[in-house]
Amino acid sequence: MQVFGLVGNPVGHSLSPPMHEAAYDALGIDARYVTFEPAVDDIGRAIGGADALGVTGLNVTIPFKQRVLDLVDPDPLAARIGAVNTVDFTGERPRGYNTDAAGVTRSFAHHDVPLDGRDAVVVGAGGAGRAVAFALADSGCDVHIANRTAEKAAELADAVGGASAGGLDTLDRVRDADVLVNATSVGMESDESPVPREVLHPALAVLDAVYSPVETRLLREAAEAGATTIDGAWMLLFQGVEAFERWTGEDAPVDAMNGALRARLS
Ligand code: ATR
Repeated sequence: MQVFGLVGNPVGHSLSPPMHEAAYDALGIDARYVTFEPAVDDIGRAIGGADALGVTGLNVTIPFKQRVLDLVDPDPLAARIGAVNTVDFTGERPRGYNTDAAGVTRSFAHHDVPLDGRDAVVVGAGGAGRAVAFALADSGCDVHIANRTAEKAAELADAVGGASAGGLDTLDRVRDADVLVNATSVGMESDESPVPREVLHPALAVLDAVYSPVETRLLREAAEAGATTIDGAWMLLFQGVEAFERWTGEDAPVDAMNGALRARLS
C-alpha cells in the first residue's frame, strides 16, 4: 500500500484526505492519504523520516511551505515562488513542486477563461499571492499586484518581473482588467470583500482563493455585476489534481475528486 499525506500545523479539518482517497477509489489504487502535524521545529526530521519510511508523496501547508524548499530539490517554478506544497519521494532525492500555481491556471482553463495576453489584477502578496502572480505571468497575463502593504506588492512584482504593483487604492485597475484573483484572506468566514463592488464588471473573470464560505462576498458581488465567477474550491481541487498527477503519472479522476470535495463544503 502506498502512503500519501499532508504535513502542516495545524492540519485540523483538511479536505485533502477525502479528495485524494476518492481518486484512489476511482482508479483502484491501493493507497491511503493521512495528515501529519509535526512540531514546527521538527519539519526537517519529518521530511527525512517520511523519505526513510517510503512515503510516496506529501502535500505541505502552513507553516512549512517555505522551509520545505530548503529540504528538497525544488523544481524551477517552486524555487521562483519560494514555496513547496508537494513533495515527491519516488526519486533518488525528494523533489518539491508548487501545484498552487497549476491550481490557478487549471481553474481558469476549466472555465474556458483565456489568460494569454489578458490584463490581470492580483489582490494580495502573501504566500497565496506569490503562487497566483507567477502562475498568471507565466500564462501570458499582464499582471498588476495590489496589496494592503504596497511594499510587499512591489517586491513580488520585482520577483515576477514585468508586473506592476501598488496599494489597495490601485484596485481601480480592475475596471479595465479581464481577470481578478483574490489571494488575501479577506472574506474567509466573514462577509467582507477586498475589492470595491463598483469596479466589478461583466467582462471580468473572478477567482477567489478563499473557499470558506464557497460563495464569498466578492464572488456574490461579481456575479451580481455579471462577471464570470470561479470559487476557491476549484483552486483547492486543481492543486490536488496536479499533485496526484505528479505522484502517480496518471490523469486524475477530476470528477470523483470534485464530488468528494463539494460534498464536504457548504
Ligand atoms: P497566505 O499564505 O494565505 O497568502 P499571508 O502570507 O499571511 O497568507 O498573506 C495574507 C495576505 O492577505 C496578504 O496579502 C495580506 O496583506 P498584507 O501583506 O498587507 O498583510 C492580506 N490581508 C490580510 N488581511 C487583510 C485585510 N484585512 N485587508 C487587506 N488585506 C489583507
